[in-house]
Amino acid sequence: MDDKIINITITRRKLTEFLIGLVALFFAGGAAATVLKYLWPQASNKGESSEVKIATVDEVPTGSSKKFMFNGKASVLLHMPAGFRAFGSVCTHLGCIAYWKPDENIIFCPCHLGKFDPNTGAVISGPPPSPLPAIDIAVKDGAVYALKWKDPDYVKSISFYAGAA
Ligand code: FES
Repeated sequence: MDDKIINITITRRKLTEFLIGLVALFFAGGAAATVLKYLWPQASNKGESSEVKIATVDEVPTGSSKKFMFNGKASVLLHMPAGFRAFGSVCTHLGCIAYWKPDENIIFCPCHLGKFDPNTGAVISGPPPSPLPAIDIAVKDGAVYALKWKDPDYVKSISFYAGAA
């Protein structure tokens, strides 16, 4: 058997160059991933159904709400007297997070006083240019599930803001 001894010498300079290369590779990979994510948004933004359990019915009594994430976007479940509603809660004006004010029967954006209809997500007043995106939901076995965006093209158009939420 032929035993060989391999002697490798690593200088401090070579080690430093190697570590700098690793750091540069790490940052370049992160930048490339960001560009790719921007160019090809997640498939879930395209309206495909993805059932997500939001809450049990008991967790959200009438008159209350619950924040949740749906397809990576801040959203809110409302339990109105007429039943459950769910919307993306990222304001369509400049991306602040809107919330339900049941005493005033509005979804309110505190940044510039935008107001939305809690039944439909439509703009009532303020600067928001378009409604909050609605989410199809289902109630079964004592729980509420988010199914899909009602208008996936619209949600895709606000991905820039929603991604920042
Ligand atoms: S960000 Fe909501 S009203 Fe301006």
